[in-house]
Amino acid sequence: MYCVCGSPLFASYDFASVREDIASNEFPSTANSMWRYSQLLPVKSPSCIVSLGEGWTPLILSRRLGKHLGLQMLRIKNEAQNPTTSFKDRGLCAAVSKHYELGATAFALPSAGNAAVSLSAYAAAAGLKAYIFMPSDTPFGFYSQCELFGAVTTRVEGTISDAGAEMRKQNGDWTDLSTTKEPYRVEGKKTLGFEISEQTGWSVPDAIICPTGGGTAIIGIWKAFEELEAIGLIGSERPKMFAAQSGGCAPIVRAVERGSDEIEPWVNGETEALGLRVPSPFAGRLILNAIRQSGGDAVAVAEQDIESTRRMASKLEGLDICPETAVGICGLSNLVESGKIDYDEDVVLLNTGSGARYIDI
Ligand SMILES: Cc1ncc(COP(=O)(O)O)c(C=O)c1O
Repeated sequence: MYCVCGSPLFASYDFASVREDIASNEFPSTANSMWRYSQLLPVKSPSCIVSLGEGWTPLILSRRLGKHLGLQMLRIKNEAQNPTTSFKDRGLCAAVSKHYELGATAFALPSAGNAAVSLSAYAAAAGLKAYIFMPSDTPFGFYSQCELFGAVTTRVEGTISDAGAEMRKQNGDWTDLSTTKEPYRVEGKKTLGFEISEQTGWSVPDAIICPTGGGTAIIGIWKAFEELEAIGLIGSERPKMFAAQSGGCAPIVRAVERGSDEIEPWVNGETEALGLRVPSPFAGRLILNAIRQSGGDAVAVAEQDIESTRRMASKLEGLDICPETAVGICGLSNLVESGKIDYDEDVVLLNTGSGARYIDI
């Protein structure tokens, strides 16, 4: 479900009427979930919202990691507190709810693990079928969780791109929820941007660090700030958006370094940060646009630093840090060292999920 030109589709809203709705300069809902922003979410009928309590996660002031990295102000948006313990819940909740409203009966997606668990949970809650295609080296915990939620899982040799190819080959009677190939996952993800802004008093930080694979978070957060400006809650200020990738699979970093507008597929991508093993992100142009327009950058980190950083950061903060976030932390460290982020800048790091399922048993 994307444009004939091969670009993702974006949902849009009647901003003038939303502006009237939020009379006192705030969203009227106090729901402790991402649905507090329902005026800027695509589901029309509240009865179609399939919610498990996703979003409105804490923005935690780092007590020790920030200092360790040489920063005065680091905050961590702890997405491990979502219902299935990753930020994928936001996008999959919005997508399942909207397609449920539109009459879908089954869903499919290729996934590195977290999106699969998330879709399985939301499809179960909606009483609908989920078909999951995952690389065969995905840790067992992801498979068993999907199966627990009643999803049909298929193991595919290779990366998420190979899993996607297998899914398209099977061509089942399902709604394809592949990253950025349908418009509503980005809608859910953008609530991260709304929350970061609301939790900082309707302002924006100086920089946001996004561990980036398919790019839904970076694209969604960028869209969120545009929408907040359109409804008058913030001005034209924007954070610098930084994408962090592992050197083992860094197609976005390479495109930024080359000044290219296209992302050339990364051959034989390998990284233990499984969610970042995306050799050819479909929405490459939008990712590059958010990085460049914001004055941010993309940074690759050494694969051998991921596990030690994960352990170090978990110990410093008492948070369950996943390998993807460890990539973000290594990237942040490089950015501080190279002066691209100043010690006195206000930085938000996404802890995109829990690391618990990565431990294979
Ligand atoms: C824990 C985690 N972090 C980051 C990512 C990358 O997500 P995005 O699509 O926003 O680039 C993924 C994707 O699978 C993930 O599971």
